[in-house]
Formats: sequence, structure tokens, C-alpha cells
Amino acid sequence: MSTFPDRRMRRLRRTPALRRMVAETHLGAEDLVAPLFVREGITEPQPIASLPGVMQHTRESVRKEVAELAALGVAGVMLFGVPSHKDELGSGAFDSHGIVQATLGDLRHEVGQQMVLITDLCVDEYTSHGHCGIVGADGHVDNDATLALYAKAAVAQADAGSHMVAPSGMMDGQVAAIRAALDGAGHAHIPILAYAVKYASALYGPFRDAVDVQIVGGGDRKGYQQDWRNAREALMELQLDLDEGADIVMVKPAITYLDIIAKVRALTNVPLAAYHVSGEYAMLKAAAANGWIDGPAVALEQLTAVKRAGADVILTYLAREMAEVLR
Ligand code: PBG
Repeated sequence: MSTFPDRRMRRLRRTPALRRMVAETHLGAEDLVAPLFVREGITEPQPIASLPGVMQHTRESVRKEVAELAALGVAGVMLFGVPSHKDELGSGAFDSHGIVQATLGDLRHEVGQQMVLITDLCVDEYTSHGHCGIVGADGHVDNDATLALYAKAAVAQADAGSHMVAPSGMMDGQVAAIRAALDGAGHAHIPILAYAVKYASALYGPFRDAVDVQIVGGGDRKGYQQDWRNAREALMELQLDLDEGADIVMVKPAITYLDIIAKVRALTNVPLAAYHVSGEYAMLKAAAANGWIDGPAVALEQLTAVKRAGADVILTYLAREMAEVLR
């Protein structure tokens, strides 16, 4: 036995080299996926006030951004579309000329082999009412009718060159419906990154500015996204998505749900993703802009925490700046 006091805890913290040798968690560009917004019908990229540093891209500027992210070693991008016209069904989500499908046509040749092109699969950006599906006569989102839209969107995205589809709408049975549609259309090799655990979070506010979404009548998504008072319910969502064939599962948001990430990690061996969402990014940027926190230091600490909790892949608006720091 060592003498009192036992100094084992501090001995290995003495120099940066010692700390690096015993560090348990490492963050790299290969862990990161950058969410990107591409807007139809604009000629100049548009800044998003609540997401400083993030843009609504043109088809041309997104091309450049993706090429630069690939060169920085970022693992992938998640594409979101902002259409110039919205309708009841969100048809831009499954139209072969929709903005994301058109963008994939540009990107697949440019960076097709170097990084993973992921497409968010939902219709809220494309619907006039802002909901993630078809609104029924009773005012609620119709689960089964919506599954048919998601199936069409999945095929349209895969046909256009998506490498991976990421259903985020939280309809029951969406993973199974999308798997069947992809398989039936000759896309059996396209994986599904399932937003398996997605809470009805107030942290999505800035994202809705980014995609110009307002939910009709000041509504919310609590009828399909999860109640943040619940943890066991997340494990049921996880199990269902695994049973339906999810290739990767995601927890969202990230920092507010580290307990859920750790629980999901313990229960599955499929790769686990976590989404550090728009509100988490905006809070960090606002405090940093005021000089109240050291922005890059907090960013590194937060994203490392998400990995430490068990995530393999992190979706984050910080991807580019982190990749620049980490290389
Ligand atoms: C739905 C979707 C949302 C986000 C990703 N996919 C918004 C929502 O559910 O309201 C939010 C991402 C973020 O806040 O960064 N298409």
C-alpha cells in the first residue's frame, strides 16, 4: 500500500504528455457529421441569425462547403432542404427535382467517394402547415398516411444518390416502411440512420429559422416526438427501430440527454449517433460572443462528453470549426 495521502490521482495528471497517454476519449473529424441547409431559388448564401456561422446555402455554395468539409476529413454531411414552395403533402420531399435531390445530383460526382452523404428524411420543411406528416381531418398527424410519403421520399433520395437516409419524423413504423420501400426499389444497400430517440425539445428553435418552418397555429410536435420526462420510453423506441432494421440509431438532442445516450449505448451494438442540435449550438455561440465562456474550449468539452457518453457519430454545426482545430 502507498503512504498517506495516496497520490495516484494527481501523478498521471502532471504533464500534457501523461494526460494524453491516459485519455479515455478522443474526438476526431472522422466522428463528425455536418448538418447543411440548401435553399431553393436563392443566388447568394443567406446567414441564419440564430445560428451564427451557419448558412442557408445555394446549390453552388453547398458544393464548395461539402468539398471543403471532405478535405478536412469530416465523416459526412446531413442535408436539409428549404424549398421555395410548400404544400399540404410536402411534395418537394419526394419530387425528383426537389432541392435535396437536385443537390445530391451535384454532389455525388464531386465527393461521392470521400464522405457519406446523408439525407434527413422528413416533410416538415416542405409542408405548408409545418408538421412532419399529413394532417388528418381531426387535426392530428396521420401516422399511416405519412408512412407512404416517407417511403416515396426515401426512394427519391436514394435514386438521387443519397448514401444513407435518416428518418426524423417519429411516425410509428417508419423504419420498416422505409426499409421495404428501399429494398423494393433496388436500394437494399442503402443504410437507415434512424432518429430512434427524438425528444419534443425546445432546443430545435434555431433550426426552424434555418428551414423557415412555423408550425400552424403555434402548434408543437408533442403528438409524435417524445416527452422529455421519459427515459424508459426511449428504450422502447430504440427496440422498435432495431427490430424494424435500423442500421444506426440516433439520440437527439445530445447534451441535455447524455443519460439517454449512455443507456442506449449499453443496450445495443449498432453504431450510435447523437445530434448536438441547433439550440445547443446557439447557446454556446451566444455565451461565447459575450465573452462569458471560451467558445472553442466549451465546444470541445461538450462534444467529447457526447462521445464519452457512448456516441460513435456526432451531428453538429460545430463540425467544420472542430475539424479545423482537431487536425
Ligand atoms: C425534422 C428535424 C428537426 C431537426 C432535425 N430534423 C426539427 C424538428 O423536429 O422540429 C432539428 C435539428 C436541430 O435543432 O438542430 N425535419
